Amino acid sequence: MLNHIRELIREISALTAASAEEAELLRVKYLGRKGIIPALFDDFKTVAPELKRETGVLLNDLKNKAHQRLEELKAAHTSADGEGTEMADLTRPAAVYRPGSRHPLSVTLNRITEIFSRIGFTVADGPEIEDDWHNFTALNFTPDHPARDMQDTFFIATSPAILLRTHTSPVQVRVMEKTQPLIRMIFPGRVFRNEVISARAHCIFHQVEGLYIDRNVSFADLKQTLLYFAQEMFGENTKIRLRPSYFPFTEPSGEMDVSCLICGGSGCNICKHTGWVEILGCGMVDPAVLQNCGIDPVEYTGFAFGMGIERITMLKYQVRDLRLFFENDVRFLSQFSGAL
Ligand code: DAH
Repeated sequence: MLNHIRELIREISALTAASAEEAELLRVKYLGRKGIIPALFDDFKTVAPELKRETGVLLNDLKNKAHQRLEELKAAHTSADGEGTEMADLTRPAAVYRPGSRHPLSVTLNRITEIFSRIGFTVADGPEIEDDWHNFTALNFTPDHPARDMQDTFFIATSPAILLRTHTSPVQVRVMEKTQPLIRMIFPGRVFRNEVISARAHCIFHQVEGLYIDRNVSFADLKQTLLYFAQEMFGENTKIRLRPSYFPFTEPSGEMDVSCLICGGSGCNICKHTGWVEILGCGMVDPAVLQNCGIDPVEYTGFAFGMGIERITMLKYQVRDLRLFFENDVRFLSQFSGAL
């Protein structure tokens, strides 16, 4: 029996298998319930007592070596994903690699940043948690202005008021407090309002603010800058229209419409048959605001504008429900793959 075992050890160390199936057949042959090695363990009972020790050691050695060798043969034919393969199939298509895509709001913001950077605007940001001075008072909001109402603003503390900024305009104040003109910047960021969530509104959304302060900045500069932006953003045939409006921090104030992106101005349900869609608020920075921020309103003038990134993205890509931007469903997001 000892010799038989030694022979089997040699035999097993030389085993080869051409496939995973063959390796499995060999395993059954040697180690299976009715295989050669279990049979030897059965025979072990009949071994003479003086040989039991030596035979037992060798038999265990055989079993261990057989396990090891047969595992090796099996592994050689098993690919990483656990599938048995004959040989690597070099014609098999590679596993599909799905890179993520940029969020549509990032796509729009990158585009806005790029358009303004070409005419000398740099980018800055400010805190999302603000005080009353930067969010309201310095921007000329009177103490009883309705936008300070609890309905719109998320307050963190009330005296002194600490709140989640309701717009990106406070970044204007922070920049003007620290910098003397020339200031030519945009301020993108997240803003918060206590709004009921619907297809058209959310309590968290994004804005981009623009600010240009220098000597002799006029309303004509504002208009030309916005026309340039609208045509770069929505196409060279885009027309703009400015309507008078009111913001506490600009005087005069305006709202800008662009000719409808869908119908080009002839009237459709996106523009409610007016041919125009509103995209931003703007105006000449109120001298009182310049004064509040330490800039001399006699020497300097400037313009400002602010727009919603969700709104611009919805118009550009015809997204009908604003909530889609916050759900992060890849079926929605992947439609923007390829966009930068
Ligand atoms: N802060 C305004 C808002 O949230 C948007 C805005 C309007 C910003 C006019 C401006 C501006 O800078 O000049 O509705």
